[in-house]
Amino acid sequence: MADVEALPMMSGFGNEFATQARPGALPDGRNSPQRAPLGLYAEQLSGSPFTAPRAELRRSWLYRIRPSAGHAAWAPIASGTWFAGPFETNATPNRLRWDPQPIPTAPTDFLAGITTIAAAGGPEAGGVAAHIYVANRSMTSILSNSDAEMLLVPQLGRLRLVTELGIIHLHPREIAVIPRGVRLRVELLDDAARGYIAENFGAVLRLPELGPLGSNGLANPRDFKTPVAAFEDLDAPTTLIQRYCGKLWQTTLDHSPLDVVAWHGNYAPYSYDLAHFNVMGSVSFDHPDPSIYTVLTSPTPVAGTANLDFVIFPPRWMVAENTFRPPWFHRNVMNELMGLIEGQYDAKAEGFVPGGVSLHTRFSAHGPDVASFEAASVADLKPHKQEHTLAFMFETSRILHPSSAALASPTLQADYDAAWGGFRKGFEG
Ligand SMILES: [Fe+2]
Repeated sequence: MADVEALPMMSGFGNEFATQARPGALPDGRNSPQRAPLGLYAEQLSGSPFTAPRAELRRSWLYRIRPSAGHAAWAPIASGTWFAGPFETNATPNRLRWDPQPIPTAPTDFLAGITTIAAAGGPEAGGVAAHIYVANRSMTSILSNSDAEMLLVPQLGRLRLVTELGIIHLHPREIAVIPRGVRLRVELLDDAARGYIAENFGAVLRLPELGPLGSNGLANPRDFKTPVAAFEDLDAPTTLIQRYCGKLWQTTLDHSPLDVVAWHGNYAPYSYDLAHFNVMGSVSFDHPDPSIYTVLTSPTPVAGTANLDFVIFPPRWMVAENTFRPPWFHRNVMNELMGLIEGQYDAKAEGFVPGGVSLHTRFSAHGPDVASFEAASVADLKPHKQEHTLAFMFETSRILHPSSAALASPTLQADYDAAWGGFRKGFEG
């Protein structure tokens, strides 16, 4: 595909930004002057209640060619395999794993190619949903998600996210976060695309506290990128689709709604290159808890209990002495959905491949498979660089319910339990 324009990005996490695609489009001093510059319409987009504590306030002022209010009624449309959940009847203590979903041969855009894997809670109750997307062509419609903030984790193929607040180019090993209600069109820059989506129905994602680590490390604020303003001045029929309360609704405009010429505020999409994650780990002994790899977190009112943690397992040095280095056996109250962006994950010798998914819900027992356990138990513990690997986890305090579509999918592995089926009796006394 031909090169596309690469606009500059602004750095920082949660900052107040101000950007204009035309000189003079941003008003000076007033958010809503009697007449906005260049004849534009001023519109506030609020992602938090007006009276939220200052640290939680998210809002931006948009200066656009037409106000968003000018549209006909929304009509419901089929939601395909993108569900909201929860799926109470599907709750299972079983460990589940899926092969990568194949790239379709029929024309499929990002929106049509979303399949829900699991969900907890929902748009009204809070919680999170996890999905896979596959696509072989760009969207022509525009999507906004009123239910959830969307975290995109591409695994295959580059994307161009044309959002209301600017353009983000995204490649595998990068992530993007699209705030609730921000409109976008997902375009493909390669022939095929596949990746993961977390829909966050809870508090907006933010950087985790650093505690004793100090003021640097893990994901550093300066490495997050927010787009500069870019707009379409296009008078042509445009389909606008809204995800609302777990369903899709559609209306048709006579223009592109991606018509924001300038904006300022702190409610905006952003991207992050996971290669910038500053990995912390043990340099003496023992395997740290995976929370040490948290990139972003959506907290709940209960201290330390996340609605959603986005955790990665990136390339890193392993140096701990007299230590079993892969993830140990564990049973957790938290619920874990894992994906693999590239390479191999150090707790699984086979069966968990890039594009695949595993689901370990509350207190389901898991850990290394037999081959990984046997190999790591006798490994020569020299410093070792874990390379060509990038796995991630959506971790939540809510019970993740697999969707009916995921349970019926031919990609569901029938024999996942066998990964732990060959352990010999371990008592030598
Ligand atoms: Fe786990």
